Amino acid sequence: MLHHIISMKDFSRDEIDIILKRAKGFEPIAKGKKSDMLSGKILATLFYEPSTRTRMSFETAMKRLGGDVIDLGSIESSSVAKGETLADTIRVIGNYADAIVLRHTREGAARMAAEHSRVPIINAGDGAGHHPTQTLLDLYTIMRESSLSNLKIAIVGDLKYGRTVHSLAYALSLYRADMTLVSPKQLQMPDVIKKDLKKQGASVSETVNIEGVIDDIDVLYITRIQKERFPDPSEYQKVAGSYRVTEELLKKARNNLIVMHPLPRVDEIDPAVDGTRYARYFEQAFYGVPVRMTLLAMAMEAL
Ligand code: NCD
Repeated sequence: MLHHIISMKDFSRDEIDIILKRAKGFEPIAKGKKSDMLSGKILATLFYEPSTRTRMSFETAMKRLGGDVIDLGSIESSSVAKGETLADTIRVIGNYADAIVLRHTREGAARMAAEHSRVPIINAGDGAGHHPTQTLLDLYTIMRESSLSNLKIAIVGDLKYGRTVHSLAYALSLYRADMTLVSPKQLQMPDVIKKDLKKQGASVSETVNIEGVIDDIDVLYITRIQKERFPDPSEYQKVAGSYRVTEELLKKARNNLIVMHPLPRVDEIDPAVDGTRYARYFEQAFYGVPVRMTLLAMAMEAL
């Protein structure tokens, strides 16, 4: 069976729990303990959009498990620039690698790629669609630094175009989390997702105001306004800088609140917050390694 990872909608709570549990065992290897679990295996990375953490944590995960990585490189220097279709690129790379990590500009690209692939496709972000591996590391961060049971979370920022928050909301509905969606009116969570969440019986409310919820949550998950997805730059200007987490705002927070962010941040979190007890976004970026080790080992049938 092929272990494609396309959307959180494809995961059951039991499957997620197994991944989170296994990831804990990979933490020592993520920190440098030797392993040859994936020796002889090759991962291909295809990024049609910029990436730092996702690409490099997949690479780190693969290499620390003794495997190798091949990379498409820049789109301009590959045959994509000559007009090769995604389907053809995927068919060809499936003959070189044991799994393919794909980030693409178009929503649905990963699902389409999976239809043409003889090796597992791992969706590392498809346009404004989904980003399931980010969600799994987000859940892992919550499990390690807070708790997934009786969770009260505010999800803040660009909920319209942000793929990380789309995937996260689906997954949190499986954990019966109490979610407050905080965004400017123009950037609310898409209706189709809200309907899906309601159908699953999720507890979801919406507001534009972060101050009203800050004293009653365990996790503050803030995201960047996705500038590159706005059809009209003047529309971006209207919402740029809508939210900013500061020490002042956090004075009203619970002592055990944690602040998360998938990164990169632009101006949503004042750097002065980095040194406070609340900040967890850099730990979150580290947790991407053990979680992605787990996913690679499962995809390559080493677990
Ligand atoms: C996110 C993405 O690419 O969707 N980054 C990431 O993978 N950590 C978030 C973003 O770009 O804002």
